[in-house]
Amino acid sequence: MSKIRTIGVLTSGGDSPGMNAAIRSVTRSAICNGFKVKGIYRGYEGLIHDEIKTFTTENVSNIIQTGGTILRTARSKEFETPAGRKKAYETLRKEAIDALVVIGGNGSLTGAMLFAEEYDFPCIGLPGTIDNDLYGTDSTIGYDTTLNTITDCVDKIRDTAASHERIFFIEVMGRDAGFLAQNSAIAAGAEAAIIPEDSTGSDQLIQFMERGIRKSKKSCIVIVSESPKCGAMHYAERVRKEYPNFDVRVSILGHLQRGGSPSARDRILASRVGVGAIQAIVQGQRNVMVGVRNNEVVYVPFIDAIGKRKPLDKNLIRVLDELSI
Ligand code: F6P
Repeated sequence: MSKIRTIGVLTSGGDSPGMNAAIRSVTRSAICNGFKVKGIYRGYEGLIHDEIKTFTTENVSNIIQTGGTILRTARSKEFETPAGRKKAYETLRKEAIDALVVIGGNGSLTGAMLFAEEYDFPCIGLPGTIDNDLYGTDSTIGYDTTLNTITDCVDKIRDTAASHERIFFIEVMGRDAGFLAQNSAIAAGAEAAIIPEDSTGSDQLIQFMERGIRKSKKSCIVIVSESPKCGAMHYAERVRKEYPNFDVRVSILGHLQRGGSPSARDRILASRVGVGAIQAIVQGQRNVMVGVRNNEVVYVPFIDAIGKRKPLDKNLIRVLDELSI
């Protein structure tokens, strides 16, 4: 393996609060360990089209507390093609970048894995996504902040739900994982959560209505995981048809969930895995995602991080059920 002198860092896919803290950590730790750092703008798009700048510690000053990503981000269709990845490799050669740190979610780390295999190029991943759906790490960068944002929104919606005695279906992000829905429902004291992982095959809406929550409560909050066919609108429509006595409203929280200043937890996670990424490079590791499990920094092969399904703790379903009576 040739000596690594310069490390490129990029953010890719949906932004998440704490990505800036991760960029700062990677940059400063790399410089501390004698590497040069180059910031790659707009994710894999910037890698293909050579939108790259040398970073010093000043480039990452005063960003630990900011949301979004100073490197900006993109979902690159071109990088999904062999021709796109070839262009990306040519840029890396031209810029004399010897290793890549990719901060992103499932799709971004899949891209990193493919690229690393195709070009035998050292790639390290950091789990940057609000969805918390990467295997091998207890949490992902941005998840905690988003959970807090959702909880805050639900608290506010509850005020009006209670005043009007309404059922609110509140849709949250998560792609096809229910971590945000499940845990925000517990944190906000919601009456139910409709999540993709509840694979009992039963109708979650009927279960919820038949439990007769309305007997003891005048208003209800149901958190619904986003889904193209069975989102909050779908359930609200059904209640309007099947239970016409109820006054129903929908609130889709949307992209506000991805913004805002990162929580202390996300800043610490991002800082730890950023340093972990540089340590991985120093140790000659490649094709791994850096995570934190049981409060220890761990290195998870890309294939596991993206290929294995991270299980939702089934006990949480019980916690929510018992506490929402
Ligand atoms: O993966 C992060 C995420 O916010 C998902 O929860 C959501 O489904 C998706 O990105 C939305 O993507 P976009 O911002 O491209 O609409």
